[in-house]
Amino acid sequence: MKAAKKPTHAPAKSRTVKGPGLSGLDGRHLLVIGGTRGLGRAFTRLAADLGARVSLVSRTGGMIAASTVRSYRADVTDASAVESVISQVVAEQGKLNGLVFFQRHRGAENAWAGNLAASLTATKDVIQASCNRFDDSQDASIVVLASSAARFVADEQDEGYHAAKTGLIGLMRYFAFKLGPKGVRVNAVSPGTLLKEESKKFFLENRKLHRMYQRITPLRRMGTAEEVAQVIAFLLSPAASFLTGQEILVDGGVSLHWHESMARAWLDQPLSRSD
Ligand SMILES: NC(=O)c1ccc[n+]([C@@H]2O[C@H](COP(=O)([O-])OP(=O)(O)OC[C@H]3O[C@@H](n4cnc5c(N)ncnc54)[C@H](OP(=O)(O)O)[C@@H]3O)[C@@H](O)[C@H]2O)c1
Repeated sequence: MKAAKKPTHAPAKSRTVKGPGLSGLDGRHLLVIGGTRGLGRAFTRLAADLGARVSLVSRTGGMIAASTVRSYRADVTDASAVESVISQVVAEQGKLNGLVFFQRHRGAENAWAGNLAASLTATKDVIQASCNRFDDSQDASIVVLASSAARFVADEQDEGYHAAKTGLIGLMRYFAFKLGPKGVRVNAVSPGTLLKEESKKFFLENRKLHRMYQRITPLRRMGTAEEVAQVIAFLLSPAASFLTGQEILVDGGVSLHWHESMARAWLDQPLSRSD
């Protein structure tokens, strides 16, 4: 088998859909856990542009400049803080139409327990505290952010991250089954490596790595936080009204590679001493 050929035409550009391309969030009340940075911030901006009302929960209470976004401060690894912040959100902003989970543990300290607490236990607690607070006049939707690391080993992340992200897929399926009869859909989005405001500098400075990543990705480029946000917005909208219990991998096709094909494509590359 030969190495991947260069594309004969320019790769598709990253696209942010506006206007009628994406709709259905108008007036919906979304509880977004961890929307102050990275992917969560890109999603919160898009949701506000699409007319959603967003209640944003984070530990620092960071804010997004939009009149329909309200910021709340809580650590979702603390079960009592979860109950009180959700009561406050619903009392002030009304019943919920959707939940989205971006929070993750960062740092090497307490990594195993921290990953399980932030990704798994906190997601379970927030879903359980919210499930009687959905507005039953419209379909409701929950989206959890898993990762390619739920299927593959990402050497840059630790064992806690892998276990937590894999567990999230099971948790998502469980709640899809249990909450389906109440009209609540539950799905997961698993992004691959992305260009975000926080990671752009790294990839632009490491041009070789950036170029290699583009080369091994069937769409021949890296995806953006905004493109993942669009998939999340779709899952929260009525356009996805019969979709539940699914994981959507948003990675430009990079995970399609068969391992032997990769080994063959790399045959001519020099091996380093440690190989
Ligand atoms: N390429 C990618 O970016 C990528 C790939 C695969 C999966 N993902 C997943 O996508 C999600 C977002 O990734 P990201 O890199 O954008 O995350 P991030 O930059 O670390 O942001 C995490 C957000 O969650 C909040 N948060 C963290 N712990 C919290 C807690 N205990 N209680 C309340 N809020 C908390 C943070 O705000 P405070 O610090 O103020 O609390 C922040 O707003 C994560 O679940 C990640 O695993 C990302």
